[in-house]
Amino acid sequence: MSRVLITRKLPGAALERLHALHSVDVWDGVLPPEPTVLRERAARAEGLLTMLTDRVDAALLDAAPRLRVVANYAVGSDNVDLEECAQRGVAVGVTPDALTEATADLAFALILAAARNLIAGHEAVRDGNWRTWEPQGWLGHDVHGATLALIGAGRIGEAVARRAQGFSMEVLRVGRRDDLHAALEQADFISLHCPLTPQTRHLIDAAALRHAKPSAILVNTARGAVVDQHALKDALDDGRLAAAALDVTDPEPLPPGDPLLSAPNLLVLPHVGSATHSARARMAELAVDNLLAGLDGRPLPHLARH
Ligand code: DGY
Repeated sequence: MSRVLITRKLPGAALERLHALHSVDVWDGVLPPEPTVLRERAARAEGLLTMLTDRVDAALLDAAPRLRVVANYAVGSDNVDLEECAQRGVAVGVTPDALTEATADLAFALILAAARNLIAGHEAVRDGNWRTWEPQGWLGHDVHGATLALIGAGRIGEAVARRAQGFSMEVLRVGRRDDLHAALEQADFISLHCPLTPQTRHLIDAAALRHAKPSAILVNTARGAVVDQHALKDALDDGRLAAAALDVTDPEPLPPGDPLLSAPNLLVLPHVGSATHSARARMAELAVDNLLAGLDGRPLPHLARH
């Protein structure tokens, strides 16, 4: 029997498999444990089930010398120092596939919501500001037949591409940085699906945004830091980009006074790409599969890519 720390309560029944075999400690706070608390709590753990809100860094690994496996409850692993883990022989697992379709659904919802002013329209009706049907009121952008640039065409990007087919969109897949600017010049919608790495941090910066059409709409369901938010705010303020719809920001949550929030034509959600009942339950199953394998000394079925 090994000691396992789980840093949040999880949906579904997956944890029962862990409870049956191991000694399980679940952090039941509404907010994630502070780093110092996490270090204390993890001190004797052999397995950790972490959220994207937990930093798994050298300090945590130093504090948890028995650790053998980290199962991250996310497909991304940018919160985990993979190098440090590798050096110490700590295996790191993620939850691919479980959230592909849910995240693609949300990316498409953001495309539609931003293109057709759904949130502003709802707010106007709710607040009594809708006076009458207007020939020139609430004009948005066509989604059908438009050109969609997918930046990072992995599993989630491909799932968005399948949805785009139903809207007769032309899809441009960008897998190499060299192709980015040319795709931005053509795109009506730009949807981000790359992992956050040192190479993709601020990939969408002022220089990239200068290549986007003023009528383009940016959608981000990947990681906030893929976008330089100062450059994004400037582009929205100056009308050099029509709109942005973000499920992710840097940091999360954005402080209420963050300058980005005052930009026009901006929609921000609280990182809910994978937030469906089935996706989150399936993620828990995969995370538990990873933990059980790691604690058993077996290869993890869903290893984080270095
Ligand atoms: C992930 O798994 O990386 C997602 O961002 C969680 O919603």
